[in-house]
Amino acid sequence: MSTDGLTFDIRLKDEPTPAAERERILANPGWGTHFTDHMITIRYKEGKGWHDARLEPYGPIPMDPASQVFHYSQELFEGLKAYRQADGTVTTFRPHANAARMNRSAKRMAMPDIPEQLFVDALDLLVRTDEAWVPTREGHSLYLRPNMFATTRALGVNRPADEYLFVVIASPSGDYYAKGIKPVSVWLSRDFTRAAPGGTGEAKTGGNYAASFAGQAQAVANGCDQVVWLDALEHRWVEEVGSMNLVFVYGSGPDARLLTPALTGTLLPGITRDSMLTLAPDLGIPVEEGKISIDDWQTGCESGEITEVFGCGTAAVISPVGHVKGDDREWSIGDGDPGPTSMRLRNELIGIQYGTRPDPYSWVHHIK
Ligand code: PLP
Ligand code: COI
Repeated sequence: MSTDGLTFDIRLKDEPTPAAERERILANPGWGTHFTDHMITIRYKEGKGWHDARLEPYGPIPMDPASQVFHYSQELFEGLKAYRQADGTVTTFRPHANAARMNRSAKRMAMPDIPEQLFVDALDLLVRTDEAWVPTREGHSLYLRPNMFATTRALGVNRPADEYLFVVIASPSGDYYAKGIKPVSVWLSRDFTRAAPGGTGEAKTGGNYAASFAGQAQAVANGCDQVVWLDALEHRWVEEVGSMNLVFVYGSGPDARLLTPALTGTLLPGITRDSMLTLAPDLGIPVEEGKISIDDWQTGCESGEITEVFGCGTAAVISPVGHVKGDDREWSIGDGDPGPTSMRLRNELIGIQYGTRPDPYSWVHHIK
């Protein structure tokens, strides 16, 4: 198969997973623990560009222990899903937006650009090959995980690697909320920050997530589900929750409006966030990107001005926040149920992704 000047060498697995075993996995896929039969690999070398594109059996990648990624974390990743439509066909959602974000991350991490069309064609080829792994159950999907990392064998830190590997793997994913959507409790972390001005917060690079585990562990130790990241300078301005963007709903019913922290360089520019900001005005819900402090959040909830708060991202779509806790404060939002504005936005977005609602912005990408 030829794409963007590159020909994929197709190496199919000799013994793919038997259908009965696949169906057993798809009946209860969990999240991120099962993988399909194949993967994509494409190599890059400075001066030569992208080459050696393959679709090959899923499996371990031989790596030199001196590969730069192991020592200095030159790495990027993306995440998006393939959805089974009612007519049996398969789609992805805004894959070009993921490609563009990967290239923005690459710039920050001094890594090479990947042509957008090559990125999308690679995903399409993997989904088409492993189509039987795209779940048919409502709310289930095939999570796609492209990533890129430095393979140059060198311990020098005075320049970026000159060789990279781009990989795409796919993992069947169940309904994030199999038992129904339940609001989460969140911990205001003042000891740990996710990102600082000039750092890598807006890049989707593994180091940001490695640095987040201690804050997440602290949230759990304090009886909370997720950690809220505050700004690095004042520990006061709200940025994200766990690995999701945050949205605040002010007012209710026809008076509802949204506020989400602006993209200052320390937040990951979520595609779900962008989709919500685009769709909400069409539903008569005004949106604003701005600043919100933990004091604003607390007083807004106490006065009843803030009625709902949710995290949003590809994996969970939305995750309502029901309770907030910090070392000097604690408060609740709403009555313990997901709010109506959050659910309206969620249903609209899911409807577009699964093809049950119109797609006014041509976000749905059909895999043929
Ligand atoms: N924020 C962080 C830190 C993330 O890792 C993610 C998702 O991966 C998001 C936000 C949501 O982004 P998206 O909506 O593109 O999945
Ligand atoms: C998301 O898709 O919303 C995520 O948070 C991805 C995460 C597993 C890195």
